Amino acid sequence: MSKNKIAPSLLAADFGNLQRDVEMVNNSEADWHHIDIMDGVFVPNISYGMPVLKSIAQHATKTLDVHLMIVDPDRYIKTFADLGANVLSVHYEACTHLHRTLQAIKAEGMLAGVALNPHTSIHLLEDIINDIDVVCLMSVNPGFGGQSFIENTYDKVKALKELITRKNASTLIEIDGGVTSKNAKALVDAGADVLVAGSFVFKSDNPTETIKNLKELIG
Ligand code: DX5
Ligand code: ZN
Repeated sequence: MSKNKIAPSLLAADFGNLQRDVEMVNNSEADWHHIDIMDGVFVPNISYGMPVLKSIAQHATKTLDVHLMIVDPDRYIKTFADLGANVLSVHYEACTHLHRTLQAIKAEGMLAGVALNPHTSIHLLEDIINDIDVVCLMSVNPGFGGQSFIENTYDKVKALKELITRKNASTLIEIDGGVTSKNAKALVDAGADVLVAGSFVFKSDNPTETIKNLKELIG
């Protein structure tokens, strides 16, 4: 069993066959289901909301990794816990009182995640890293699947890994956006623990096989 994880993003699934695609992930070597919630305000796109997540949760058998791309996420922490989220990530840029938000997520029994936009420095986490279970580094600008990977992410992963080690934290590093078989191994070598992959998995001819190949690559 490898420690590094693959989290297929259901944003790239076929919503007309959502149960089928969730079950494909259940029966694959994937580790987490990645769920992207967008509000059309924090990001220039709207994905799906609570009723769809409820349906996903009814069929999903793996960890539900919910990525909130919404303003003022504190309003919905309990709602997402009740819907079955296991990991709840908020954006650093959307939180005025991040420490309070993370405590509220943990109080609901979820792992607390913080996502950083590509322009946001990992050094801003210096004083809060020990309170974060998962840092999600955005390797594209959030809002859409299918974008190209931003190469500067490698330096961010290395710097974040150094920060986590220096602070003796147990935080996982997740990479979200543009992950493919071309960059997966290098990301894990740089220090990543969880790779989100949307289009690369769901737009492939054989998603189950693609997940298997990614898992083999990251060991
Ligand atoms: C982007 C989302 C991602 C997206 C990744 O805003 O947070 O999770 O689904 O999709 P790909 O892998 O296609 O870049
Ligand atoms: Zn995401």
